[in-house]
Amino acid sequence: MFKSTTAVVTATLLASAAYAQQPEVPVNLPAYKEGQYVHQAPTLDDLMNDQKMNPELRKVILRGRDIFMNTQQFRGKYVFNDMNCKSCHMGEGRMNWSGPVWPAATTLPDYRGKNKHVNSLEERIVGCFSFSMNGKPPEYGSDDMLALAAYHQWLAKGAKVYETNIGGRGFGHLGRDMPADISYDNGAQVYQQQCALCHGADGQGQHAGDKVVFPPLWGDRSYNWGAGMVRVYTAASFIKNNMPLGKTGALSEKDAWDVALFVNSQERPQDPRYTGDAKETREKYLNFHKYSMYGTERDGKILGQHDNTGEKPFLKPDLLRPRNFD
Ligand code: HEC
Ligand code: HEC
Repeated sequence: MFKSTTAVVTATLLASAAYAQQPEVPVNLPAYKEGQYVHQAPTLDDLMNDQKMNPELRKVILRGRDIFMNTQQFRGKYVFNDMNCKSCHMGEGRMNWSGPVWPAATTLPDYRGKNKHVNSLEERIVGCFSFSMNGKPPEYGSDDMLALAAYHQWLAKGAKVYETNIGGRGFGHLGRDMPADISYDNGAQVYQQQCALCHGADGQGQHAGDKVVFPPLWGDRSYNWGAGMVRVYTAASFIKNNMPLGKTGALSEKDAWDVALFVNSQERPQDPRYTGDAKETREKYLNFHKYSMYGTERDGKILGQHDNTGEKPFLKPDLLRPRNFD
């Protein structure tokens, strides 16, 4: 145990050292489109210096921020993989071009195609717990849910309500359709050259004891087949704008697409919406899965055709339920 921890720490130090030697690549984020609404979410300093804020509210927001940054504190309760919310919503969930989370507070309640009903902010958070965290979401109205919702809402401070043409929202600026010349083999090469150092040769990430140092990209401890990140375009845009960490902008668009295809053609825990047949599930949720490799064939196997739910001892959390007002 001690020996393997040391090995991982050494590998991690080597990875950081190698990256420290890389020449700095200027961050080249996409431009906002004309007419788009742009909001810069407030910072932790803003929160601490806000004299008018009730100290009880500040405590709740700080608690929400803490859950967002270190969601692993709920490992085995709400989270059954190695993710924190900030693993994908980089920084603190406030960065444009890395899925800033505040738009959920200003655009919901609204209809969502993913579950075909009207969702609240809390239900949007439930979604990321169920798919991205391969987890069991905190109950609606619970203290933990209140804290998280308060953090999201506070990040939206000053933003326009029900404005949907938002610059830097989500991960999708490369467009949705895979390029015709997308290449799994080139993706595999890019992965070994640009990503394996931190995320591991087998996508398993790196750990120091129980602590996740670099999160996994596939396998039991990664996001599941229902997570937004399994859409190749979502991962491609995320990777283009945010990875390799410390060298953001170094990948060409083509390499970002190729490596996204490679990563998202590896196995991961089952989609909680699984019907027992991956092809059938793909068809049932085609508006989502037409952008993923789920239920398609790779090396003679149908991706996602298995009963593996990762470290989570159930398939579908109870909070994922249909709603209608008929
Ligand atoms: C594996 C990556 C990943 C992790 C981990 C993750 N998310 Fe997300 N999240 C996404 C993706 C992908 C989207 C959809 C973005 C898009 O549409 O381009 C998203 C969207 C959201 C949105 C909606 C943002 C909007 O623009 O309306 C919220 C809110 C959110 N996530 C909250 C959370 C919370 C809270 C956690 C932790 C419990 C979390 N996410 C963990 C990938 C992730
Ligand atoms: C220097 C180390 C490093 C390198 C190199 C790197 N990453 Fe990451 N990556 C990270 C860290 C750290 C995070 C989590 C960010 C956080 O928590 O703030 C992350 C997060 C991610 C995520 C979202 C979370 C998850 O685990 O799914 C994806 C996807 C990802 N990286 C893909 C890539 C790809 C593809 C490459 C190669 C092109 C790459 N990364 C290169 C360190 C790295």
